[in-house]
Amino acid sequence: MPTQNPVNVAPAEGKLGVLIPGIGAVSTTFIAGVEAVKRGLGQPVGSLTQMATIRLGKRTDGRSPYIKDFVPLAGLNDLVFGGWDIYPDTAYEAAANAKVLEAGLLEKIKEPLQRIKPMPAVFEQDYVRRIHGPNVKTTGSKMDKAEALMADIAGFRKANDCSRLVMIWCGSTEVFHRPTEVHQSLSKFEEGLRRSDPEIAPSQIYAYAALKSGVPFANGAPNLTHDFPALLDLSRDRGVPVCGKDFKTGQTFMKTLLAPGFKARMLGVHGWFSTNILGNRDGEVLEDPGSFKSKEETKLSVLEQILQPHLYPNLYKDLYHAVRINYYPPRGDAKEGWDNIDIFGWLGYPMQIKIDFLCRDSILAAPLVLDLILFMDLAQRTGLKGIQEWLSFYFKAPMTAPGLYPEHDIFIQLMKLKNTLRWMRGEDLITHLGLEYYD
Ligand SMILES: NC(=O)c1ccc[n+]([C@@H]2O[C@H](COP(=O)([O-])OP(=O)(O)OC[C@H]3O[C@@H](n4cnc5c(N)ncnc54)[C@H](O)[C@@H]3O)[C@@H](O)[C@H]2O)c1
Repeated sequence: MPTQNPVNVAPAEGKLGVLIPGIGAVSTTFIAGVEAVKRGLGQPVGSLTQMATIRLGKRTDGRSPYIKDFVPLAGLNDLVFGGWDIYPDTAYEAAANAKVLEAGLLEKIKEPLQRIKPMPAVFEQDYVRRIHGPNVKTTGSKMDKAEALMADIAGFRKANDCSRLVMIWCGSTEVFHRPTEVHQSLSKFEEGLRRSDPEIAPSQIYAYAALKSGVPFANGAPNLTHDFPALLDLSRDRGVPVCGKDFKTGQTFMKTLLAPGFKARMLGVHGWFSTNILGNRDGEVLEDPGSFKSKEETKLSVLEQILQPHLYPNLYKDLYHAVRINYYPPRGDAKEGWDNIDIFGWLGYPMQIKIDFLCRDSILAAPLVLDLILFMDLAQRTGLKGIQEWLSFYFKAPMTAPGLYPEHDIFIQLMKLKNTLRWMRGEDLITHLGLEYYD
């Protein structure tokens, strides 16, 4: 039984609109997967909201409901999808081009996928250099484009009779930029939109439009997007939850499993060399050094923050860490990621670990998109606003309040996520610090 008062969470009634900038490999694998699961054609493997349980109370209580039965989440039948892309291809055509899912499966869900036609995108070639498409909004200032996106959002809400919306960026990785003066306050940002400041990226315009429309926003790519004072202030002022950045799949997922283990056992690490080959459109975009720099920043920061060389200089001070991504078209979405890890143990004796992960990027990312949408909607109905650190579990570079460092250890992240759900329902938080030995 709950021991505290549950938090007031509004029910998940009506349709939940899912708005996605970027109808590419990840988003179509996600949408197609939801349609397949709804028809009993597959299982939502990898999704906590669909498959995981949550332990409540003492270990002896035997209470472990499914998360989806414990907190009020939107059901898969209540999701409606829409989005924007620079290519006019429907979600069916984009999924067929991405070649992640088999043609036979796509045929069975062709009808709902074909109905999803991307709205014209807000796009700027300087931010994503390797792709060119005709389906873009061309006229007016950046503020005019933000207003056009807000009209798209309102139109989608009305046309699909949605009671709530969530937006998640699944667009290409934008070129690396640091925040500048225009990002420091909402008034400067809005002034920047009016004069089309070149430092305002397209993804930032989507995030602004979402927040102004009261729509929670998650960022699946490493772009800056909404991780700066102007939009964070806006999210708090409007009472809207936000989270990001960069889905934690593939190689970084492996890193965040292993590195906390080395540190837990006080094993040293001399070097960690990570390389990838990848042949999808994401790989092509990441060939551009500017887009790769955005990715590199999020991938590199993980080890430093987990291993804390300032606290353990003897073990991690001289760690050499490199990350490479090479575009190799024959592989398509079936990425291969190699890690060579040079570790050392007792008296400094060296050892090596090799990982060869033959993964499928979009298959790993799709369940994260689903969970993020459902949890962001839950956060909104719970009245949570600003950065949702409890969703760090899903990200390579979790956003945090200024001055805090992100928590990367996936098991701590999972505990934080589940404890947030327990808190919502008035259940005791589980810290694994029970004092039953002293009873
Ligand atoms: N697959 C993974 O495991 C994974 C993990 C972490 C992050 N990501 C990130 O997720 C994003 C999507 O990955 P993907 O494999 O689907 O890539 P993708 O290239 O297949 O799809 C991205 C789509 O975004 C579109 N796009 C680019 N700029 C746009 C804009 N301004 N507005 C609207 N659409 C725009 C592109 O035309 C493309 O169709 C990438 O940024 C990628 O780095 C993916």
